[in-house]
Amino acid sequence: MERINIKTIKNKVGETVKLAGWVDVRRDHGKLIFIDLRDASEKVQMVFLPQNKESHALGEKIRPEWVIEIEGEVKKRPENMVNKEQYLGDVEVEVKNAKVLSEAKTPPFDIGTDGYEVDEEIRLKYRYLDLRRERLQKNLKVRHQVIKFIRDYLSEKGFIEVETPLLTKSTPEGARDFIVPSRLQPGKFYALPQSPQQYKQLLMVAGLEKYFQIAKAIRDEDTRGDRQPEHTQLDLEMSFADQEDILKLAEDLFTKLVKELFPEKKISQIPWPRMTFKEAMEKYGTDKPDLRKDKNDKNELALGWVVDFPLFQYDEKEKRIAPMHHMFTSPRKEDLELLDKDPLKVTGRLYDIFCNGEELASGSIRINKPKLQEKVFEIIGIGKKEAQEKFGHMLEAYEYGGPPHGGIAFGLDRFLAILQNEPNIREVIAFPKTGDGRDLMMNAPSEIDKNQLKELGIEIKKKMLYNID
Ligand code: AMO
Repeated sequence: MERINIKTIKNKVGETVKLAGWVDVRRDHGKLIFIDLRDASEKVQMVFLPQNKESHALGEKIRPEWVIEIEGEVKKRPENMVNKEQYLGDVEVEVKNAKVLSEAKTPPFDIGTDGYEVDEEIRLKYRYLDLRRERLQKNLKVRHQVIKFIRDYLSEKGFIEVETPLLTKSTPEGARDFIVPSRLQPGKFYALPQSPQQYKQLLMVAGLEKYFQIAKAIRDEDTRGDRQPEHTQLDLEMSFADQEDILKLAEDLFTKLVKELFPEKKISQIPWPRMTFKEAMEKYGTDKPDLRKDKNDKNELALGWVVDFPLFQYDEKEKRIAPMHHMFTSPRKEDLELLDKDPLKVTGRLYDIFCNGEELASGSIRINKPKLQEKVFEIIGIGKKEAQEKFGHMLEAYEYGGPPHGGIAFGLDRFLAILQNEPNIREVIAFPKTGDGRDLMMNAPSEIDKNQLKELGIEIKKKMLYNID
């Protein structure tokens, strides 16, 4: 007999089925033993009757989280025994044969709860057990549905998903790079991408026209509830598009996504409100205002746009002009003259999406003229020589016919956390890191073998181990 998913037994009353899964709960009533069996699809109550001696004896031994396989008959439960809370609360399976596939130690915490009450460090150390809980299983399933929706929507519109490298050169987005030493090129290093920004621009030069990627973006920054050292973006880029095209596309995609997958959620205003950076700062004192009418309402999504950001900001700490978004963002045409005179007054063609007080996405129309790109480099203190060294490939590429283009990237973890009513993005990521960037399950980062270091020509200064500065 073939094993079937528990969920599919709903209409199989009277049939004999084969199921496998984890023991969720066990209730021993002496003669009758009840076990809730759980697989990835559902849970169902099974009953072990004393007259089925062998399986009953096994039922006495079985403990929560053991993995078992059973054959049994699907029966309707008597009216007074129906559990209305459960999808399969009106049936149960009378076990004829049972087999233990794998025994289990008692888990270090209860898997039957939502888990918020458990110390997070322990949850992360035993993430594979933590992920067994219903809430997290659901979060991962919803994540899959959201990503599938995005892939379907964009594919339908002619976008092509392209993977870009993880071993690359620094893509400066304002954070520190994670660095990977090269064995074959001793003394040289790759950087992990802070985003696929440069690659997606080069794909536009390559003539792809409509690109997207569910991409990992990796940044060495101080982590917080809404930040992880690696996060997932929906990254997209379009050629021959102006700002309005990109805003419309992004808004339509996410409005439809919410309507279809989260019908209980209400977007406060459609079309989404738009305001300039100046208006946002004057009215709300922030560029990611929380415009919910009722901040206690978990089903309200106050989505909106901020546009017309300044192209640059003054970095007080570094005492220099820095890009507001990133250095590939185009200034407004009418502000080109200001670049020399008063760069801090230049408005950029860049835009953000905010949602319930968080920044959800950022994007811009890019510079596609090498001369203008050089000028922007110069303003932020990257001279000609350094520009050639670091970004020569970008400057050169646009000498070969770079179309006008622009794009946007969404923080998918943040969006999912809001949609799933989760307090932080770790709850919607399968294997997240702690606030200080550790993976407690894998025990990473970790020291590496002396030989590995030797092969890479790297020595660790003893002092480093104690004093990072
Ligand atoms: P940006 O750096 O604004 O833009 O990133 C886009 C969105 O990604 C989310 N995000 C994060 N989420 C979790 N953890 C983090 N550490 C983290 N950092 C950012 C935010 C943010 O709005 N290449 C540009 C996009 C473009 O111009 O097209 C970029 O990466 O929700």
